[in-house]
Amino acid sequence: MSTRPHEPAPGTPAPGKLALTELAELKARRQPIAMVTAYDAPSGRLADAAGADIILVGDSAAMTVLGHDSTVPATMDEMIVLTRAVNRGARRPLVVADMPFGSFQVSDEEAMHNAIRFLKEAGADAVKLEGAGPMLSRVQALVGGGIPVMGHLGLTPQSVTLLGGYKPQGRTAAQATRFYDAALALEQAGCFSLVLEAVPPPVAARISQALRIPTIGIGAGAGCDGQVLVWHDLLGLTSGPVPRFVKQYANLGSTILGALKSYVADVRSGAFPEPQHTYTMSAEELELFEAELAAGASRRQRRE
Ligand code: KIV
Repeated sequence: MSTRPHEPAPGTPAPGKLALTELAELKARRQPIAMVTAYDAPSGRLADAAGADIILVGDSAAMTVLGHDSTVPATMDEMIVLTRAVNRGARRPLVVADMPFGSFQVSDEEAMHNAIRFLKEAGADAVKLEGAGPMLSRVQALVGGGIPVMGHLGLTPQSVTLLGGYKPQGRTAAQATRFYDAALALEQAGCFSLVLEAVPPPVAARISQALRIPTIGIGAGAGCDGQVLVWHDLLGLTSGPVPRFVKQYANLGSTILGALKSYVADVRSGAFPEPQHTYTMSAEELELFEAELAAGASRRQRRE
């Protein structure tokens, strides 16, 4: 069976794609890794054009795109559609699909089945899953099956109820030690990278120093090997307050609102559309068209 060059087989890196192994080299060279979430083809294309190394199709989509109050309701089918769209827009960045709640907790087999769907149906390069402990065997199973896995520790939003809300984690010595041990265990299990969310910078820095694989921080300080922010947070598209770890690089929400208000006003006033927004027709064709209508009208009159 031949594979067309612009359509690599699932699991085969596309031409120009950043090699997964390059991430550890970036860490070794102390070159910070830039990761951002994206949820559709235009955002995938823009993240690629901006030079992002990794695009995470986060289950944050449940909140940012689908309007839920938490990430828990995200489904496999929704995440597949979003990941496939991002993949159509992005070329160089690694596209990591976030395994939604319920898609990997039950068993290694189910995790394997769902991760395979991300690779085969959505063209993802890797998957991310939250937690350690019982999830270590999931990581081993997926990596053993040839699927790269990114871990996620600290504030793990799928367990937000258990954690007592969206709160920083690892602020006691006992909790910080648990995360440190869990990070080492995730590396041992085969993760190629690890997200550290909302943990104190000294804890994240010690974990980053201890690991060979790169850590990607979100609210975890500059001691991580890379950073990730959520698309809507960094671009100012989120309604309501954003976490303190967000740096907002634009206020697109108000830009979009202003543009939409102008459009609505122009439609109502008749200022849009103008001739340059329409298509021309030759005077002869228009004359023939009018003659055709007139002939049709008189035929109808004769029949009545
Ligand atoms: O779902 C998501 O966007 C994430 C990032 C916050 C790391 O998991």
